[in-house]
Amino acid sequence: MRVQFSTFTGNFHKNMSVAKKEYKRVTTNTLVEMKGNKEKISMLTAYDYSMAKIVDGAGVDVILVGDSASNVMAGHETTLPITLDQMIYHASSVVRAIKRALIVVDLPFGSYQSDPKEALRSAIRIMKESGAHAVKVEGGKEVKESIKRILNAGIPVMGHLGLTPQSIYKFGTYTVRAKEEEEAKRLKEDALMLEKIGCFGMVLEKIPATLTKEVSESVSIPTIGIGAGRHADGQVLVIHDLLGITHEFNPRFLRRYMNLYDDMTNAISQYVDDVKSKDFPNENEQY
Ligand code: KIV
Repeated sequence: MRVQFSTFTGNFHKNMSVAKKEYKRVTTNTLVEMKGNKEKISMLTAYDYSMAKIVDGAGVDVILVGDSASNVMAGHETTLPITLDQMIYHASSVVRAIKRALIVVDLPFGSYQSDPKEALRSAIRIMKESGAHAVKVEGGKEVKESIKRILNAGIPVMGHLGLTPQSIYKFGTYTVRAKEEEEAKRLKEDALMLEKIGCFGMVLEKIPATLTKEVSESVSIPTIGIGAGRHADGQVLVIHDLLGITHEFNPRFLRRYMNLYDDMTNAISQYVDDVKSKDFPNENEQY
C-alpha cells in the first residue's frame, strides 16, 4: 500500500552548475557512457502524453512507463492488476510526446513469469504496439531465462532488484530489502548476472545505501536507485510523488518538489465557487 503521511519539503531549485554533456537523443549506450563519465542519470515515470511532454522537455534522461500506473493512474493498491494492454496504451501515449528521452516500459505482472516464450511475446507486443525503446523486468535468477529470450530478440532490458513490488505478497511489506547478509549476497549475484547476460541497466529499489555502492561499483552498467541512496548511477521517482499529487505517500526517500495536491484542490474549488457565484464566465470569456 502506498499510503502514508504528507509533508511538503519545499522548493529545491538550486543554482548549482551540473557537469553534463548534451545528448540529443538518449539511448541505452548513452546511459552506459554517462556512467563512465560519472554523470548521474535522471529517470522519472510518466504514463500519459501531456505529462510525458513536460518531463521530456525538462530534460529527464529516461522515462519509465512504470506499472506504478496501476496505483497512481488506476487507483489499485498494488501493481499486480495492470494488464499488458493497459501498459501498451500508456506507453504509446508517452511515445507520442517524446523527443529526447529513452522510454522504458515495465512488463506487467503475469506477462513474463510463466515461461520465456510468453515473456518474449509480451516484450514484442510492447515494442511493436507502443514504439517504446526498452522493457523493464523485475527479479533476478528466477527470471533469467525470460530476460535472455527477450535480449536475444534484440530488445533492450533493464533489470529491477531489491524491493520488487510485483512480489509484494511474497515480501508482505514495503520495507527496505537486503538488509541481511544472505539477501544482500543474492542481490549482488543477481546484479552480476543481469550485467553478464546483457541488460543495459538495473533499478535498485529500497536497499541500503552501502549495498547500492557495492553493486554500482561492481557492474559496468548503470544502476538507477529509488530509496537506495546517493551511490546509484542515477535516480528514479514516480512523477506523482515528486509533484506532491500523491500527498498521502511520504516515505523517507521521497523528495517532494511541489505540493500539487493542495494547489490543484485550491484551484478547482475556486473554479467551483466562480461557477456557483456566476463570476465565471465573465463578459470577456464569452463569444
Ligand atoms: O513502476 C514503477 O514506477 C517503478 C519504479 C518505482 C522504479 O518500477
